[in-house]
Amino acid sequence: SERTLVLVKPDGVRRGLVGEVISRIERKGLTLVAMELRTLTRETAESHYEEHASKPFFGELVEFITGGPLVAMVVEGPRAIEAFRSLAGSTDPVSAAPGTIRGDFGLQIGENIVHGSDSTYSADREIKLFFPELG
Ligand code: GTP
Ligand code: MG
Repeated sequence: SERTLVLVKPDGVRRGLVGEVISRIERKGLTLVAMELRTLTRETAESHYEEHASKPFFGELVEFITGGPLVAMVVEGPRAIEAFRSLAGSTDPVSAAPGTIRGDFGLQIGENIVHGSDSTYSADREIKLFFPELG
């Protein structure tokens, strides 16, 4: 079994999609291990998205992700990282397949509702950042 960090980003919280996202995670058979509603500091946001620090959209990304409360959760199950990325759909919601979270609810790449860790390395790093008590 594997763990991944999932975020319902501020746009998802604002639009009332927290229950929808949790429901899809649960119906898939994945398990919630930890969950918290919080507003990120700039420091945490910059650390979370450190791989994108040199991208032209980094400033916008940090503004967006710190712009309101988000829901952070740790999700567990067999191949949970890939399983959740598959539920989320492609980064650009317009090309994300219908039936995925982004494909069903998104239109803009900068407001794509959810985040899921993209590798075991990222999952370990991100879970430690958001839930240090889980180790
Ligand atoms: P995350 O799960 O959020 O990490 O998305 P991802 O892994 O599907 O995409 P990636 O890590 O490559 O990019 C991180 C986030 O940056 C994306 O989810 C987008 O919200 C945002 N992003 C990526 N490309 C662009 C862009 O060209 N413009 C803007 N404004 N945001 C972008
Ligand atoms: Mg990513």
